[in-house]
Amino acid sequence: MPVTVEDARAVLRANDRGGYTVPTAGLYPYQWNWDSAFSALGWMTFDEPRAWREFDRLFEGQWPDGMVPHIVFHRWNHDYFPGPDVWRTRHDPPTSGITQPAVVATAVRRCWESAADRTLADAQAAALYPKLLAWHRWWVAARDPDGTGLVAMLHPWESGMDNSPAWDEAFARVPPEPKSTIRRSDTRHVDPSMRPSEEFYKRVIALVDLYASLDWDPARLWRDTPFKIADIAINAILHRANCDLLVLAERFGRPAEQSEIAERLHLSAAALERLWSNAEGVYRPFDLISGKPIAAATSAGFLPVWAGVADAARVAAMTRTLDRWTNKLHRLVPSTCPEDPRFEPRRYWRGPVWAVVNFMIGQGFAESGGAAIAQRIKDDTAALIAGAGFCEYFDPMTGEGLGGGDFSWTAAVALAWGLLDG
Ligand code: GLC
Repeated sequence: MPVTVEDARAVLRANDRGGYTVPTAGLYPYQWNWDSAFSALGWMTFDEPRAWREFDRLFEGQWPDGMVPHIVFHRWNHDYFPGPDVWRTRHDPPTSGITQPAVVATAVRRCWESAADRTLADAQAAALYPKLLAWHRWWVAARDPDGTGLVAMLHPWESGMDNSPAWDEAFARVPPEPKSTIRRSDTRHVDPSMRPSEEFYKRVIALVDLYASLDWDPARLWRDTPFKIADIAINAILHRANCDLLVLAERFGRPAEQSEIAERLHLSAAALERLWSNAEGVYRPFDLISGKPIAAATSAGFLPVWAGVADAARVAAMTRTLDRWTNKLHRLVPSTCPEDPRFEPRRYWRGPVWAVVNFMIGQGFAESGGAAIAQRIKDDTAALIAGAGFCEYFDPMTGEGLGGGDFSWTAAVALAWGLLDG
């Protein structure tokens, strides 16, 4: 099994398409937003200019209103569905019309602080700062127009946790009636039993068709969408990203920008706190259409530790939750609670472990006073990778590697988190 530092570097090099890293060859042939943030952290450990280039290429896709899309289609590959012809956005290079969890500012700060080449790091961070600020402002303007402190996702793909059972009920309200023809190619690359169902794809594309018909205008999307959720991962990750943006603002920004970010942090910390669930011992997302919290305990529910908003009592309660979960499985952190009837250890975001999510939860616990559980999560991640290689995700019951192979963000996290020998 490929488990050395050199093997991890080789995965990133093999997935390099000229300044951006594809998540894996075949299945995902473009630049993905949050994948790139993690890939950059991996590159940073052995090739600093290449790490910075990853961000530059991602921001080639940034829209005039600040949105950073979840996919940048630098070079059209007809093997991937849905491609630019389905998204029908107006950007050059072509992009999707939705976004993904905002890990980038956190990655930029980490690269900036750890870089050996200070001149390059200062120049890059200074150039990236206004772009990051524009994106974070877009989140507030487009996705929290009422100023609640929580931003909403309008498509399950925006969560990065595409097929989570947390979206089932809300997504069932989306009529499975796409206008575009569905030409899936994912099931040619990966066993269909690990991928989302046909019904799921119909709804996914029905939403894309609706938003394209609204010309991707954020105000019209906000008004007309049948799917609007305040997700924990998106909000916790954005909160942390704003903490990191504030550090960059102190060096590269104006005082008014610093106050703007600090005020937002104040609001989002209080709003995240409202999502805590005593019954489940994790944070829960909130369905903004039904007006109710979503009863689903998933790995996203622990991410407030990454945001730094969980106090000692919350950290202790979440540790107890994970201790309970470990009785049912071999490796942490499953994407869905193993006691949930919807738990499926091999299917996309309904049970398997993702190394990037473990990285955020593990680091978050380590920084929030949960050293023992942090170490357990880190050790489990290292053991999964040692046993199965740099797979897309892992079965929490058996440790088997699943999905795409030679995956960039798994290799990158192994490098950035120091999980490998040699
Ligand atoms: C899948 C994942 C998403 C990721 C993408 C590329 O769609 O659910 O989080 O960004 O693959 O790896």
